[in-house]
Amino acid sequence: MRVSKDELFQLMKTKLAKAGLTEEAADAVSDVLTFADHRGIHSHGAVRVEYYAERIAKGGITNNPEFKFEKTGPSTALLDGDNGVGHQVAKLGMDKAIEMAKENGVAVVGVTNISHSGALGYFVEKAAEQDMVALSMCQSDPMVVPFGGTEPYFGTNPIAFAAPTNDERIITFDMATTVQAWGKVLDARSKGQDIPDTWAVNAKGEPTTNSRDVHALVPVAGPKGYGLMMMVDILSGSLLGLPHGVHVSSMYKDLTAGRQLGQLHVVINPAYFTDVTAFKKQLSTMLDELKEQSPAPGFSEVNFPGERGKQRAEKYDEDGIEIVDDIYDYLVSDNIHFDRYHGKNRFAE
Ligand code: NAI
Repeated sequence: MRVSKDELFQLMKTKLAKAGLTEEAADAVSDVLTFADHRGIHSHGAVRVEYYAERIAKGGITNNPEFKFEKTGPSTALLDGDNGVGHQVAKLGMDKAIEMAKENGVAVVGVTNISHSGALGYFVEKAAEQDMVALSMCQSDPMVVPFGGTEPYFGTNPIAFAAPTNDERIITFDMATTVQAWGKVLDARSKGQDIPDTWAVNAKGEPTTNSRDVHALVPVAGPKGYGLMMMVDILSGSLLGLPHGVHVSSMYKDLTAGRQLGQLHVVINPAYFTDVTAFKKQLSTMLDELKEQSPAPGFSEVNFPGERGKQRAEKYDEDGIEIVDDIYDYLVSDNIHFDRYHGKNRFAE
């Protein structure tokens, strides 16, 4: 099924408002989800609406949250989301961080007590659109073995970075710190397919190609990804006074309780370090130089981070965004949710 960006946004907003979100919150979530589907990040778009709707309907997301924003220093702040919907609170935290970085050169804003906030590229791009450089990172539920270990400990803890150029391009690097997202394993499972032996381990901690045998995912690039996911956990969890590692709340176990997740935004104003126009021109030159390289065998061009998502978005603007039929049917139906997620394990099984 192909839908326009506007239709997809409206369908998701209507469903989330029906589940119990305020108009404003439903608007904020739908904007982040539409961004994800539009860029081809389908793992973090409309596919999540039913889960959010169930959590909202069951009280695991506060529908009229009282956000508490507290400046803790000239460049630092905390935003307590009162377990409101993550996308809305994380967006508000980023807006505050941009404002503070404009005034003080740098801002570090810790967003606490939120639910899942979706594709992090959305938030950092908001900063780059205003000539800022930004980083954002967050915790997620434990489903990844530490390097050399056998039990899930950290989440897929993503990191995103964005920077402006002197033209319409934005550099948006946005990745989970695992080799592969859980959604890809689930997809292989549903098709009865094997997976590459680099994605996941079985209960003994051995690499597995059997998608049904997956006990945990593995960090990207072994000890390096393991270190990165630990860094994300510390900066967006312990640093903000929140639970760490394996103690981070599960996505599905209890949909009646708030998840108390954390997210850290760091925004840097280039004007406090260099000439902004020269900086942006240099980044444009960097991208031009990369694009001029002859592609390696098997590649049609060299892409910069975020470029393929933008290319996908342009194609979707012409053809419509591709949405799985079942998801579209759910979005246009009168059902709020089908009671499918509450009480499930970390893999929604
Ligand atoms: P990915 O593997 O699709 O892409 C990672 C990065 O590589 C992106 O910046 C992309 O632009 C870049 N890239 C991909 N192909 C490229 C190429 N050929 N040349 C140059 N750059 C290229 O992303 P991943 O790791 O699957 O993450 C997907 C989304 O999931 C992200 O938006 C992330 O924020 C989100 N996420 C959110 C979580 C949460 O709890 N909120 C947890 C985990 C992931």
